[in-house]
Order: sequence, then C-alpha cells, then structure tokens
Amino acid sequence: MSEIDSLKSQLESLQAEALAAFAGAADLSGLQALRVQYLGKKGALTEVLKGVGKLAPADRPVIGKFVNQTKQALAAALDAAEAELAIKAKAARIESERIDVTLSGRKAGRGALHPVQQGLDELTAIFSQMGFAVAEGPEIEDEFHNFDALNIPPEHPARAMHDTFFLKDIQGDDGEPMLLRTHTSPVQIRAMKHFLAEGGEPPLAVVAPGRVYRCDYDVTHSPMFHQVEVFKVGRDVSLAHLKGVLQHFLSAYFEKDVAIRLRPHYFPFTEPSAEVDIGCVFCAGKGCRICKGSGWIEVLGSGMIHPNVLKSVGIDADEFSGFAFGLGVERMVMLKKGIPDLRLFFENDVRFLSRMGVMK
Ligand code: PHE
Repeated sequence: MSEIDSLKSQLESLQAEALAAFAGAADLSGLQALRVQYLGKKGALTEVLKGVGKLAPADRPVIGKFVNQTKQALAAALDAAEAELAIKAKAARIESERIDVTLSGRKAGRGALHPVQQGLDELTAIFSQMGFAVAEGPEIEDEFHNFDALNIPPEHPARAMHDTFFLKDIQGDDGEPMLLRTHTSPVQIRAMKHFLAEGGEPPLAVVAPGRVYRCDYDVTHSPMFHQVEVFKVGRDVSLAHLKGVLQHFLSAYFEKDVAIRLRPHYFPFTEPSAEVDIGCVFCAGKGCRICKGSGWIEVLGSGMIHPNVLKSVGIDADEFSGFAFGLGVERMVMLKKGIPDLRLFFENDVRFLSRMGVMK
C-alpha cells in the first residue's frame, strides 16, 4: 500500500472510531473529553498528521484536503452529538421535576397551647371574671420584695427554706443582691405600691400569674414552675371572704362542687395562715392512692395578710385587712387532668403535648 493510501485508511478508521465514540458519549463532559481526544492539539488527528511530512510534496495537498474533511466531519458530529445530549438533559430535568397536580396536599401540623399555659389562662380567667385585676411582676427580684416586705427578715428560717437562686452578676439599683423570685407573693407588694402611687384607695383585688424558681428537682418539683397569686385588701375583708372565694374558684376550676377544708399552717406573710385541701377529685373523698387514703388533697397556701406586710407598703393595718393565697399551676393541672409526673410538662414530648393540647 502506498503511503498516501495508508494515511487515508488510517483517517477513515479514525473517523469511524470517533463517530462511534461520539454516539456513545453519556453526557456533555464525556463528549468534551472526546473532543480533546480526537481534535485536540495532542489528539489522534494531530498524530496522523505527523505522517504527512513523510509524503512526497505532491501528495501533501491531496492528503491535506482529506484531513480537513475528516476534521470537519468530526467537528460536525461533535456538534450534533452535543445538541442531542443537551436535548436529552433537558428532557430528563423536566421529567425529574414533574409533579402530580392531582395528588392531595399534605396537612400542615397545627400547634396547641402548652397545658401549663392553658392552666394559667383558665385560672386567671376565673379570677378575672370575679373582678380581680390581672397584674404581673418581674422574675428577677430583690430581697426586699421577695422577702423583707413579706415579713421574712434576713435571719428568718423561712428565707433558708426557699431554696433561692441568687444572681451572681446582677445587682439592683442600690447595689443590693438580686434573685429569681421564689414565689409570686412579691407581686402583692408591687401591685399594692403601684395602686397607692396612682392615688388608689383599697379595696383592691388582684390576680398575679407567673413563673417562679426554686433550686429543687424531683417527681413533684421543678426548678422553674408557675404560680398564681390572688389577694384582696379592703375594709372588713375576712377569712369568710377568703373561704368563699376559694370555694367558688375551686369548684369553677374543677367543674364540680368540690369540698374544701382549711388546715392551720404557718406563712410569715399571713396571720392566721391555712393550707387548703380539696376533697380528692380522684376518689370523691373515699380514699385512694393519690390522696394517700385520706380523701383530701392539699392544693394551696393561704391566709389573712399579715399587718406587717400591709405596713411595709404604707397601708393602715388597723383600717384595712386582706386575704391572700398562692397556688402552683402545674399541680392544679396535674390534678385536673390526672397527670402523674410533673416532669412531663418540661420534657416537651410531642405525644404528651398534642394529647394535652387544646387547639385555640
Ligand atoms: N407564697 C407562698 C408559697 O409560695 C404561697 C402563699 C401565698 C401562701 C399567699 C399564703 C398566702 O408557698
């Protein structure tokens, strides 16, 4: 075979091989690699061209023309293959983005109020309907409002019993130590002071819901929990008023006539003081595991506001008297809904929350 025929046949088989390779390219980047492989500076076509130098000068234009034809054929085939792959890629994208517009939609989950929030709302609403004004106080308190003004002087044992969280890095305006309030009773002081500063004269009746903190954690205690404080100050406010309000409120909250009993107790800020029990809501007073067989369940602390507390805000204790009580919201919700463990409120297990949640 002459040199020229040999080169021609090399070019023909190169073209056949290249066209087959282009047709089989899977994607655009594969095709780009083939372009380099065949038409690149160091590609297969260049390799064949090296043989042209060995030809007789007269034969060179002949083979040159043939090389150009091959080059054009390959370039055209590459362009065609590229266009085809682009169409295929687009079709694949459209296919992958296809949506079935006839499918029914997914339901968006609905939120619900946390059971403690529901309890706070329910309890506050009952007192609000009875004419008590709603008040709130700060969770970061000073010792005056949390203790001193409530007749708990510095060396009083009740102070130690409160498991107080003191705040290391925060001080009051006068440099006094600050703490997380251990109960909502300081709102009694703040609400009375505010009321008097506005020029008010008793009677005044207030309900104060809010968060409180104690350094304590077990089945029935959490370091943060909620209380509702209720108090009334006026002329001739007596224990009978306290009992009447308790009776009405506890029956409204538990949605049945509950029996109540007042048991003598001690709180520094009330005198006399009483713990309040209700007839067991689980066994109707017959005695069960929850009331430990007694038929009674303790629900809150109460009493007649101590004269020293009234004096601390400048109310004349000879002229005015008042009652006060404070209750734990988690405990009230546990009793109403039969929830056995306080920690359930704070674990945020959605199974518990959605079962207890009431949609609003
Ligand atoms: N502050 C008391 C407590 O947290 C409850 C209470 C309030 C008792 C008002 C009597 C009167 O334990």
